Amino acid sequence: APAAEAASGMGGVPGAPGPEVKTGDRLTSNQGVRISDDQNTLRAGTRGPSLLEDGLFREKMMHFDHERIPERVVHARGAGAHGSFRLHTSLAQFTRAKVLTDTGVTTPVFVRFSTVNGSRGSADTARDARGFATKFYTSEGVWDLVGNNIPVFFIQDAIKFPDLVHSFKPEPNVEIPQASTAHDTFYDFISLTPESAHMLMWTTSDRGIPRSYRMMEGFGIHTFRLVNSSGDSTFVKFHWKPRLSVRSLVWDEAQKLAGVDPDFHRRDLADAINAGAYPQWDLGVQLLAEKDTGKVGFDVLDATKLWPEETVPVQLVGTMTLNRNPQNYFTETEQVAFHTGHVVPGIDFSDDPLLQGRNFSYLDTQLNRFSGPNFSQLPINQPHSPVNNFQQDGFMRYANRPGRINYEPNSLPGGEAHESSAAQGGFVSYAEPVGGTKVRARSDTFSDHFSQATLFFQSMTEPEKQHIIQALQFELGKVTVKAVQQRMLGLLANIDTRLVTEVAGYLSLPVPSGSPNTAIGTSDALSQEKTAKPSAR
Ligand code: HEM
Repeated sequence: APAAEAASGMGGVPGAPGPEVKTGDRLTSNQGVRISDDQNTLRAGTRGPSLLEDGLFREKMMHFDHERIPERVVHARGAGAHGSFRLHTSLAQFTRAKVLTDTGVTTPVFVRFSTVNGSRGSADTARDARGFATKFYTSEGVWDLVGNNIPVFFIQDAIKFPDLVHSFKPEPNVEIPQASTAHDTFYDFISLTPESAHMLMWTTSDRGIPRSYRMMEGFGIHTFRLVNSSGDSTFVKFHWKPRLSVRSLVWDEAQKLAGVDPDFHRRDLADAINAGAYPQWDLGVQLLAEKDTGKVGFDVLDATKLWPEETVPVQLVGTMTLNRNPQNYFTETEQVAFHTGHVVPGIDFSDDPLLQGRNFSYLDTQLNRFSGPNFSQLPINQPHSPVNNFQQDGFMRYANRPGRINYEPNSLPGGEAHESSAAQGGFVSYAEPVGGTKVRARSDTFSDHFSQATLFFQSMTEPEKQHIIQALQFELGKVTVKAVQQRMLGLLANIDTRLVTEVAGYLSLPVPSGSPNTAIGTSDALSQEKTAKPSAR
């Protein structure tokens, strides 16, 4: 539509990158004036003071002085690549999203892999979860699948996220340790947060030190919804299965690489793509009718649980190939802005309290990271479908919709941007019935924190079990507060007897007595006390 093209302001091509920066063979100022000497400031005599008049120096220095933008508050260290997604099996029975129903279409994607904990310059091979965020530039708008390489998360409720992140980031007084979970504050928090037990098993397993970004699974983690053209909803979990299979480093390799080649994963991804060895992942879905949620044995809104694949098989529906490295790290990998709230018609949210909180957080943080509301106009973030609305102005806005109409409803010429009904492709939220008493409390169905942690540990092979035990010996060996070590042993006692015995032996501490689930004094107990009373703000 002409209105849409005009609104994009990108030379009439909706979603096309912004105006090209013209380059030539002569240096110019930002105003395009040719420069005769870029290496000497203007001064009063060859040994005299610099002159205020030197606008060239002022411009160059001003720009350099403002090169940094805030790094992401989490997932600061990352590497990205472009590629495409091709669907081979339509999910039309479950969703109206064209990206998941139209098998003839190739959808461009940008993926950013990351560590969670370390700063932008930290080492790639630290023990950590890895981010696996995919931006699908679909014909119906942008869909972001913002996941990790681990299928569960540390906490059940987004209100705990600032505490979790404060606890694993460097301690605020001395800013150490960088990119390591092996310290007092992290294990203090974990030992008081038993819902983290399951993810702790994954991060201390070999999954916490992947061999390559190309050899990681990806998980959307939360329960999402697919909604079909009749408005029926099916719960869904998304999976990425790497064609190169899942591979890990061993701890000794990870530690040495952190010193010898801190860019190990970043380099591996770029080198593979440059060499034409394009990494591929199959997109899988687990589908669960709302009436069948009892089958999985856990609350589907609890992000610390996975759905057993024996009960709800993963069906592969398409393949993603990454085949192009970014040309510029900053404008693509650094400035890409993912958001769980970016969904397209046919994909919707569940009431998972972690997901609901994320849907607030990403926009909020990006407003800060990009100093204003216009980051969706950056080329890497522009949809490849028309953008057409009456939002305008603000810092760094470089294209507004032309003409005099900037409001709705309107009837004057030039105001063609109208809403579309569901039948015309408009997004309609799933008509979920909601109701309840306002409370600050979670349902009892969120209170089993250990069964899947135990299942995970006990399903490992012997060398994998040893790796988890050794990882926890190393991690808890770095903790300097005995009470925290002891409380962590209480948590491990709820997972597996051999695990706790071998870690306790290494720390020269007694194995906690008491039966599983009583060995721990935790914030769960505190929160149960609190929820028994009326909620206090
Ligand atoms: C960034 C995944 C939970 C807040 C990210 C990124 C990933 C990710 C992959 C990096 C995106 C990129 O490459 O640019 C996850 C997963 C979670 C989770 C899988 C749990 C299932 C949360 C929660 C919050 C949160 C609960 C807050 C309520 C953030 C913020 C960023 C971020 C603020 C930085 C975004 C930016 O600056 O663009 N997350 N996250 N995350 N996440 Fe999460």
